[in-house]
Amino acid sequence: MSLGVAVIGTGVMGAEHARVLREETPGAHLVGVYDADAARARAAAAGTVVFPDPHSLIASDRVDAIVVSSPDATHATLSRTCIELGKPVLCEKPLASSAAEALTVVEAEIAHGRRLIQVGYMRRFDRGYQEMKRVREAGGIGQPVLLHNIHRNARAPEWFTGQMSITNSFVHEIDISRWLLGSEMTSVQIAAGPNEDPLMITMQTEKGEIVSTEIFMNATYGYHVHAELIGREGTVALGPPSFTITNRNGAGGVSYPENWVPRFQDAYRRQMSQWVKAASGGTATGASAWDGYVASAIAEQVTEALVSRRATTLNYGRRPAFYA
Ligand SMILES: NC(=O)c1ccc[n+]([C@@H]2O[C@H](COP(=O)([O-])OP(=O)(O)OC[C@H]3O[C@@H](n4cnc5c(N)ncnc54)[C@H](O)[C@@H]3O)[C@@H](O)[C@H]2O)c1
Repeated sequence: MSLGVAVIGTGVMGAEHARVLREETPGAHLVGVYDADAARARAAAAGTVVFPDPHSLIASDRVDAIVVSSPDATHATLSRTCIELGKPVLCEKPLASSAAEALTVVEAEIAHGRRLIQVGYMRRFDRGYQEMKRVREAGGIGQPVLLHNIHRNARAPEWFTGQMSITNSFVHEIDISRWLLGSEMTSVQIAAGPNEDPLMITMQTEKGEIVSTEIFMNATYGYHVHAELIGREGTVALGPPSFTITNRNGAGGVSYPENWVPRFQDAYRRQMSQWVKAASGGTATGASAWDGYVASAIAEQVTEALVSRRATTLNYGRRPAFYA
């Protein structure tokens, strides 16, 4: 039976999720959408239902599962409403706009007694990151000691602050670093360039591994995400982000996309397929509500470290048995 899915929020991300559901997701179909902007909703609905509000969408008998891709501030409330009605959710990152609010989703899910929330940390479905994790787990590089992450955007608006680059961009590095290493983070130090761009963030894990991340929002040449994992017996890194190499005007090389949508298109598609399988009765494979809470809790504490410029111990509690 095909899973009926509806999308709340059809901006850049939600329109892409709706398209992936319509065109590239076996086992599911798009029932309809809701967006505060009716014209956007109509465009993304592509002939399916435009719901008058998010609550009628969530409650509809035709809707088995929900994608939440509206602004951050709406995520926790919508996720809790879906939990109340027992419907699976793929919620865009971050799970909530604060760690305390994210924890309310975790608590609601535990009280409900069944895992319903997956957070859209889609890098877990990127083939390159999956290969890095497979190599580490197979012992291919020996004991990991260092993970270097690079997260560069072509450009950000002038009003974009260092704090925003932590809560919008660095949250992805938090989640993928925990997932790649299978380690929890215990401390952080941060250095900031002029106008807080770039940021250089160094975390240390419970096992002593070092996780360094460059966040540079105005790198100008394109959107570039890179990671290299260093072990005692070797290293493994993401390959180039393009399938081809272009030669022109006496120089050659790979091309970089303008933003995350083309770079992670394959990961968004694979994330959707796996989530549909899990929501149809399979096993969840993506980031849980707990992982979503941890990313938000670490981001909040890194933001405080940006203000204080002090080395900071990270505290976010232990994983509940429910998420084992
Ligand atoms: N996983 C990723 O790689 C990734 C990348 C970018 C953004 N995001 C996340 O996806 C979410 C959406 O980001 P975006 O870039 O698509 O933003 P966007 O501004 O393009 O789209 C947001 C949409 O939500 C609509 N909206 C506003 N208030 C609403 C409400 N109360 N209910 C329903 N819809 C409402 C807006 O009209 C707009 O169409 C954000 O939470 C963002 O953090 C994730």
